[in-house]
Amino acid sequence: MGRLIAISNRTAADRGARAGGLAVAVWESLKSTGGVWFGWSGDIVEQPPQCARTLKDDGVEFVLTDLTADEHEQFYLQYANSVLWPVFHYRLDLATFSSEAFQVYTDVNQRIADLVTDRLCSGDTVWVHDYHFLLMGQAMRQSGWNGSIGFFLHIPFPPPEVFRALPEHQEIARAMCDYSIIGFQSDQDRCNFTRYLLEDCHGMTCGGGIYEAFGTTIKIETYPIGIDATGFADAAKTETAQDAADRIGRFLGGRKLVIGVDRMDYSKGLPERFKAVGQLFDEYPETHGRVSVTQIAPPSRSKVDGYRELRQTLDGLAGRINGDYGDLDWIPLRYLARSYDREELAGLFRIARVGLVTPLRDGMNLVCKEFIMAQDESDPGVLVLSEFAGAAEQLKDALLVNPHDTRNLAHVIHTALTMPLDERVHRWRALRSIVAEQDITWWRKTFLDDLNALKFTPV
Ligand code: G6P
Repeated sequence: MGRLIAISNRTAADRGARAGGLAVAVWESLKSTGGVWFGWSGDIVEQPPQCARTLKDDGVEFVLTDLTADEHEQFYLQYANSVLWPVFHYRLDLATFSSEAFQVYTDVNQRIADLVTDRLCSGDTVWVHDYHFLLMGQAMRQSGWNGSIGFFLHIPFPPPEVFRALPEHQEIARAMCDYSIIGFQSDQDRCNFTRYLLEDCHGMTCGGGIYEAFGTTIKIETYPIGIDATGFADAAKTETAQDAADRIGRFLGGRKLVIGVDRMDYSKGLPERFKAVGQLFDEYPETHGRVSVTQIAPPSRSKVDGYRELRQTLDGLAGRINGDYGDLDWIPLRYLARSYDREELAGLFRIARVGLVTPLRDGMNLVCKEFIMAQDESDPGVLVLSEFAGAAEQLKDALLVNPHDTRNLAHVIHTALTMPLDERVHRWRALRSIVAEQDITWWRKTFLDDLNALKFTPV
């Protein structure tokens, strides 16, 4: 049996990655199988790195490379996060296209492909992750690797009408077809990509998720990512979790807690959420002094323009709400631009009456799954979930909302706050059973079983 080889820009060796779902999910997968994880060290250097750094943690070997200042700028800040991220989240208005940045993006994909291919043994299973490495399959073929390669996209894939705006859309799609399997978070993402292959690339469907395009055969499937469900439920019962719950409990003084936890990103719908919170207090005076909203939002990618502006917008909105409604002993909306560890968050989720997960667009969103697993089964909180999160395809018993419709969102938060216990229990049980069943192990196994099946029946 070969090794599992994961490739992603961020790895769990890099503390900066802890705020994103990818590093956590890949870490859970690799820890249980052992293997090697290639990625960025998190360091930026002046000269091109001559060699990679290796380290071992919990049976996982990390092979990490630095990025040069130019690579960091063009590959990471520009092409990955100012072109692909906005376009794939349907935000053409925020994209700044650049052919120079695409060239560096291509070069970094090739540099890391060479690094990986040099260290592969036949029989290894290669699993590439996320939008930083859309070209990695093609680059690894150019480096001489003929074995199968799986790719999983953690973020949404846009409809062809949006994807076509990307000047390099054909080159990217062609390169993606050098993967053996492409996994998407939701049926919607999968259908967007396959529609593009059929409409723009003379692609053909062969049935059973198999497609032909650009002279290659590829399997395209939906694999909704999960969490370590039992691990998270246990985390919510630890001493650290209890301490965090006690700390916020002292501040709450018996008020109902509404909580949101998101990387500070424009895709997460935070201004809309804050506006809805303002409307909740505008329209439901009985909530005054009785409900406290806490939004945890660790800052992210602060060197990219859209992110800096977001921070200012949130500061302004939170100030307005607290100025209008706050009292000597009540802060209506607490907004904490910092991160907390997993057990602390689990403790906060457990005592929250409402969890707000209202992105404008999200690949999956793992916070909503964590919120569900952290609940006390005798008195569970209510999940308010955006219909535009990939998780909405699975979690139909949440209160599904359109996050742009802030007035309705305010109304739904109120419904969640006043929901009777029996309905809360009924909805939560249905949600818990899906999250527990389709957990991280299920995701890893389903994807890797399909990938390994291709090794024996070449398509
Ligand atoms: C999302 C992406 C990941 C990324 C993470 C953190 O979850 O899907 O690929 O690593 O955000 O973003 P950052 O830019 O800090 O790596």
